[in-house]
Amino acid sequence: MAKDKTSFVCQACGAAYPKWQGRCDACGEWNTLVEEAPTPRGPGPAAKAGGGRRVEFVGLKGHSAPPPRIPTGIAELDRVLGGGLVAASAILVGGDPGIGKSTILLQAAARVAAAGRRVLYVSGEEAVEQVRLRAARLGLTESPMGLAAATALRDIVASLEQETDAALVVIDSIQTVWLDALDSAPGTVAQVRACAAELIRLAKARGFAIVLVGHVTKEGTLAGPRVLEHMVDATLYFEGDRGHQFRILRAVKNRFGATDEIGVFEMTGTGLMEVANPSALFLAERRGNVAGSAVFAGIEGTRPVLVEIQALLSPSNAGGSPRRQVVGWDSGRLSMLMAVLESRCGMSLGQNDVYLNIAGGLRIAEPAADLAVAAALVSAATDRPTDPDRVYFGEVGLSGEVRQVSQAEARLREAAKLGFGRATLPRRVARGGKAQAPPEGMALAEIGHLADLVA
Ligand code: TYD
Ligand code: MG
Repeated sequence: MAKDKTSFVCQACGAAYPKWQGRCDACGEWNTLVEEAPTPRGPGPAAKAGGGRRVEFVGLKGHSAPPPRIPTGIAELDRVLGGGLVAASAILVGGDPGIGKSTILLQAAARVAAAGRRVLYVSGEEAVEQVRLRAARLGLTESPMGLAAATALRDIVASLEQETDAALVVIDSIQTVWLDALDSAPGTVAQVRACAAELIRLAKARGFAIVLVGHVTKEGTLAGPRVLEHMVDATLYFEGDRGHQFRILRAVKNRFGATDEIGVFEMTGTGLMEVANPSALFLAERRGNVAGSAVFAGIEGTRPVLVEIQALLSPSNAGGSPRRQVVGWDSGRLSMLMAVLESRCGMSLGQNDVYLNIAGGLRIAEPAADLAVAAALVSAATDRPTDPDRVYFGEVGLSGEVRQVSQAEARLREAAKLGFGRATLPRRVARGGKAQAPPEGMALAEIGHLADLVA
C-alpha cells in the first residue's frame, strides 16, 4: 500500500502528492514540494481489534462559564484576541520576518509577567543575549519572566512539564523547533506539525496559553503557518510594510472571539505603541484639494476606521492593455467598478493606466469601499477634487445600483467624531420605523445609483 511510501508535501499548504511536481495544485505555489518520510499515524490495526473504551454521549443542556481570560494589558492586542488570552489555548502569530512579532510578544509577555503570572519565553531564533538586548531597548529588563534559548522539542517539553504554574508560554518561532525522531529538517511541514501538536497538547493538559510564532515566507522554504491554522484556537497575522511605521494585527481565526478584528500599532524606537485612534493616523497625511482622493468610512472588525483612498489615472503608452495597479484593495473589484462606471454611467476611463492605493498601508476587504473608490476614480478622471469634508461608503452592484452596507450609524458617528460634516451613502431603508437620525451636524446625501455620484 502507498501508506508506507514517502510522499511529497507542499511546505506552504500541507497538501501531499505521491510524485514530485513543480507546482502545488492545492495552493498554486511553485517549488514548495519536499519529500518527506511517512509519519506513523493513529491507532492502526488496534482499532479494528477492539479494546477501545466506550465514550459517553451527553445532552446539550448546561454549559460552563466563559473561559477565564488573561489580559495582556495591551488593549489593541486584547481586542484582537477577543478580550485577552484564554487559558489552555493555542495562538498562532504569523507574519513576515522583521515585522515585529518578537517585539510585540516580548512586550505582551512582560505585561502578563508584571501582573504576577508565570511567563516563559522560549527563543529559538535568537540567543539569550540578543533577546536581552531587545528587552533593554523596550525598557523591560526588570521583567520577572523566564527566558530560554532552545530548539529541541524534547528539552522544551521536559522543561515545561516541570512547570506547575505557567500561565503563558511563547515559542519564537515554531519553525526552529525540531523533534529528533523525525527525519525531516526543522521548518518542514512534518516537523512544524509534529512539534506544534506536542506543544499544544501540553498547553491543554497544563492549562497555560501557548503562543506560537510562525514566519510567512514567499519562497516557501519554511512551512507556512497555514499548515498550523487548523490546529490552533486563534490565528493572528501581523501585517504592514516595513517602509511604514504602522503595523496591523489581524485575527483571521478565533474560537474565542470575532475574526477580522484589527489592532493598530506604530513601530517606534522603543517598541510597538498602541494606536488608539487609527482614523486620525490614517488620515494624518491627507492633503485637501487634490484630485483622486476620497475618504472611506470603513469598519474593521468591531471598529469604524476612516481611510483615504487615492486614485491616479495617467495616459497609457504601453500600446497594449492599460495597467491596473492596486495596493490594499482587490484588483478584480477595481476592474468591475471601472466597467460599471463606463457602461452604466457613461464615463470613459479606457486608455488610462489606473493606480489605486489605500493610504497608510491598510488592506481593505469590505465591498462597502466601492463608493469611495468610485469617488476617487471619478475625481481623478475629471481632475476635480472631492469635497474634503465628505466621507463615502456603499457597495456598488453590476447595474450601478448602490447597495446597503452594515453599520451605517457607526460609520457616520466616527466621521462626525473626526470632524467630517457630509457623507455620501446608500439610501437607508428604515427597518421597522424611521431610519436613525444622523449625528448632529452631519448632512447626508443618500444615493441609489452610481450615476448620482458621477453627476
Ligand atoms: P522583530 O520583532 O524582531 O520582528 P520579527 O520577530 O517579526 O522578525 O522586529 C524587528 C524590526 O523591528 C527590526 O527591523 C527593528 C525594529 N524595531 C524597532 O524599530 N523598534 C524596536 O523597539 C524594536 C525592538 C525593533
Ligand atoms: Mg523574531
